[in-house]
Amino acid sequence: MMKERLKEISQKAREQILGAASIQDAEALRVEYLGKKGKLTDMLKSMKDLAPEERKAFGQLANETKSQIESLISDKMAELKTLAREMQLRSQTIDVTEPGKEVALGTRHLITQTIDEITRIFTSMGFSVSEGPEVETVFYNFDALNAGPNHPARDMTDTFYVTENVLLRTQTSPVQVRTLLAQKPPIAVIAPGRCFRCDTPDATHSPMFHQVEGLVVDEGITMADLKGVLDSFAKQMFGSSTRTNFRPHHFPFTEPSAEMDVSCFKCGGKGCRVCKGSGWIEILGCGMVHPNVLKVGGLDTEKYTGFAFGMGVERIAMLKYELDDIRLLYENDIRFIEQFK
Ligand code: DAH
Repeated sequence: MMKERLKEISQKAREQILGAASIQDAEALRVEYLGKKGKLTDMLKSMKDLAPEERKAFGQLANETKSQIESLISDKMAELKTLAREMQLRSQTIDVTEPGKEVALGTRHLITQTIDEITRIFTSMGFSVSEGPEVETVFYNFDALNAGPNHPARDMTDTFYVTENVLLRTQTSPVQVRTLLAQKPPIAVIAPGRCFRCDTPDATHSPMFHQVEGLVVDEGITMADLKGVLDSFAKQMFGSSTRTNFRPHHFPFTEPSAEMDVSCFKCGGKGCRVCKGSGWIEILGCGMVHPNVLKVGGLDTEKYTGFAFGMGVERIAMLKYELDDIRLLYENDIRFIEQFK
């Protein structure tokens, strides 16, 4: 009885296993026959009801059947796995002619590009680059720069004060003082950075903006050095046919002081919208470093002289790219920034 039942199970199992269409089916059959409550397992369990003399022969047969089913299942599994892998590979054909995924490269911000270009020109002339803090003391921003106690820029309405003696620097000029206290001549540095003034934002004003400061100090520096360096800068920045013009001006930390105009790079000097018809564009302030400033650095003003200059980065970028609103530079609209790739 039991032997016949075993044969039946064995035959049925073989048929089912050979016909299994998926790995899941094969696994289900393994559970059905060999699992804890499987059909074959049940048979082995009921062996205890047999007479002892039958038990041995039946046991042998049952174990053989068990290992047959086991190897049938593992063969089937292997076959199905290979098949699945083949199907997968066939469905994943690779089109090597398909265009690659585009790597989106960012764009340096126009302000960064302008600072980088100014920096490149001055470093090529032997200048090094310094930086100073954006939160400054009244001493560095005004006192040491020879701005008298009643200088209008000191006013609370023009300057952001943190405390009575600490402020957001209104210019990069305090880096001149820091440089004079930290280095011995010959000095040739530029200092790019952020500045702050109490201005209400509009098309041409921003409470935060950028400047690039310059300072050269050594024995025998004259106004001719100032003009030579800044004229060379203007030609490299705005084109080799650019002419420069120096107009007298006043700054507390330079004497004499001047403003430098460049011939309009748009119309060449004939007069246009960019230069407002004058043919000239004001670019920077400059002058020979005031002896009072050199003294802060402990320098012998009979021996050492120097020149300094400062320019607005936004102003240069706006002129060069004919931007009519400074706020475009701070909105960080990617469509605006990407135009300057
Ligand atoms: N600090 C001045 C300003 O913010 C610009 C300037 C003028 C800087 C003349 C200089 C200079 O170094 O010599 O308006």
